[in-house]
Amino acid sequence: MNDQYAVIGNPIGHTKSPLIHGLFAEESQQDMSYTAIEGPLEPQDAFADTVRAFIAAGGKGMNVTAPFKLKAFAMADERSERATLAGAANALGFKDGRIIAENFDGVGLLRDIEVNLNLPMAGKRVLVLGAGGAVRGALLPFLAARPAELVVVNRDIAKVRALVDQVATSGSLAVCGYGDLEAMGQFDLVVNATSASLTGDLPPVPPSVFSPTGAAYELAYGKRLTPFLRLARNAGVLGVADGVGMLVEQAAEAFAWWRGVRPQTRAVIDRLTVPLA
Ligand code: ATR
Repeated sequence: MNDQYAVIGNPIGHTKSPLIHGLFAEESQQDMSYTAIEGPLEPQDAFADTVRAFIAAGGKGMNVTAPFKLKAFAMADERSERATLAGAANALGFKDGRIIAENFDGVGLLRDIEVNLNLPMAGKRVLVLGAGGAVRGALLPFLAARPAELVVVNRDIAKVRALVDQVATSGSLAVCGYGDLEAMGQFDLVVNATSASLTGDLPPVPPSVFSPTGAAYELAYGKRLTPFLRLARNAGVLGVADGVGMLVEQAAEAFAWWRGVRPQTRAVIDRLTVPLA
């Protein structure tokens, strides 16, 4: 049997991971299979049992998506530094009877922004909206990219403070509420990492944060012009992008980790891109 991989989540019907990894495997001539597994929500330890059954059946690695990233992290025998810092795993590797937790969400996002969109963060003013799991994974890779300023805004200010307190601060990192943004001027990059777009909502961000020479990035993908991207465009921002590139880049990181071969991502991103308007 060839090497087995899977993505696990619930629900999982919408996942693009088997398509992405299938294209990577074809292009880099890797003999492997990649399937989607709907993980059990209950009882409490059923998720870990499902992962162990996959390993027993010859599984070599898994991608992990909502709502299992914390459980995957908790059940691992070893955790990479970035998984530890994110407090969550989006990829597991199975080697010599051990489960290793990784998290490539933040590096995938950074790579999409800096390499694919050609927006190096060094010296720039960057604003991140939200304080959920997506932001937790992104903070350290963002700080490592040395922006002049990294500001994280959230409705629940206590939540964003707690999040930032967990990150060993290196570089310029600040938190604020939406009401403070009007006075903070324009940002070179505004990243919407809230879950607002999943319900068609708009975070209460003022148009004054967008710069005519800057960009707006929406983590959600395949939703065309979300209210956030529409606001940014109407405010005259230079570039808008959704999270399709991040999705493919985090997958490429996991693939390279598992297989030792870095796949090409451009054609896969193009294939999955839904035009914004
Ligand atoms: P995760 O599952 O990724 O950890 P979460 O904890 O549910 O996600 O976080 C979702 C994020 O989206 C939060 O930062 C949330 O803001 P609050 O903490 O203030 O609730 C944010 N969010 C969701 N809907 C929003 C909206 N309409 N406007 C602004 N922020 C929103």
